[in-house]
Amino acid sequence: MSDLAAPHILALTAYEPGKPEGELKRELGIDDVVKLASNENPYGPSAKAIEAVSGDALALHRYPDPRGHDLRQALAAHHGVPAEHLCLGNGSNELIDLICRVIASRGEHAVFGHPSFPCYRIGSVAQELGFTAVPLRDHVHWNVDDLLDAVTPETKLLFVSNPNNPTGSYIAKGELERLLRSLPERVLAVIDEAYVEYADAEDFAPATELRDTRDRLAILRTFSKAYGLAALRVGYVLGTPELVTALNRLRAPFNVSTPGQVAAQAALADDAHLRASVEATVRDRGKLTEALGAAGLRVAPSQANFVLVDVQQPGRVVYEALLHEGVIVRAMPAPLESWIRVTIGKPEENERFLHSLGRVLRESRV
Ligand SMILES: Cc1ncc(COP(=O)(O)O)c(C=O)c1O
Repeated sequence: MSDLAAPHILALTAYEPGKPEGELKRELGIDDVVKLASNENPYGPSAKAIEAVSGDALALHRYPDPRGHDLRQALAAHHGVPAEHLCLGNGSNELIDLICRVIASRGEHAVFGHPSFPCYRIGSVAQELGFTAVPLRDHVHWNVDDLLDAVTPETKLLFVSNPNNPTGSYIAKGELERLLRSLPERVLAVIDEAYVEYADAEDFAPATELRDTRDRLAILRTFSKAYGLAALRVGYVLGTPELVTALNRLRAPFNVSTPGQVAAQAALADDAHLRASVEATVRDRGKLTEALGAAGLRVAPSQANFVLVDVQQPGRVVYEALLHEGVIVRAMPAPLESWIRVTIGKPEENERFLHSLGRVLRESRV
């Protein structure tokens, strides 16, 4: 009998999410678990976002607003663009997949970094696109010329995670502008800004400041990270009305839940909460980077809410040993086999990670 799934799908490696806390509890019977694996905001969302999920938002027998009118209006005011420039997604993940399906046809080509967020590759393969995964310099640093060199006459899509997951590295404003201006007109540049709120380098700029560089520009944002609403699955794309209209042709009806829409709107309005949790995370990113460096480990300088650490031995072994300590981090695939990625948690969680890592590394040496 022939295979059930299509050959190009069978060739795919499924996205491996961070291990859920409940799974570790079931597997190892550990109750006191620290999860630093999925780049969530450890402080959670604004209390106003939780309060907003009440009243009409709890009419769970009704479908949500299919066009997300109120949230799009709020986002439009936030970004100073008409609402026609915005399309909501069930997390920005859905939008990555939707962009691949809407923009590129089988046999066309996509460019993205390596290592970078795996869903660019998954979306491209699912659409039967050719792709070039451009190696980051020294596995960590973006190089705009390398990206431009990978563009072929078939290239329709370019994905840049800025700052990048899993390296935390970024493309500075001048270089990003050069990239956006140099790409051929037919290419849709997708700048995925899932971690933008955490970027504080002086030469970093969100792509929203570079919208006049090109027409074919899609800026992805999410409420899953700094806004602390990962469970509700809300993301959005900011692009031209032409892009939004095209995405709407294929977007699943009612793709963002009512609780998601109202909570995101309330979270967007609570700038004080956003700033406080981002400030704490940025501060602790510095402390963790320093502590790991002092322990003799190489850390990739991060502009996001996680750090990538070279543990100088198989990262998977360290990952497994940390699980037994009740600490969940992420092991990395090639070419980062000796690195682990650690989300910045609350101070006590970071301390626990450092302590556990120290013990694991000491024991692995004897
Ligand atoms: C770079 C990047 N883009 C997009 C996403 C997807 O986020 P969500 O679907 O929760 O919006 C993630 C999640 O880890 C990410 O790291």
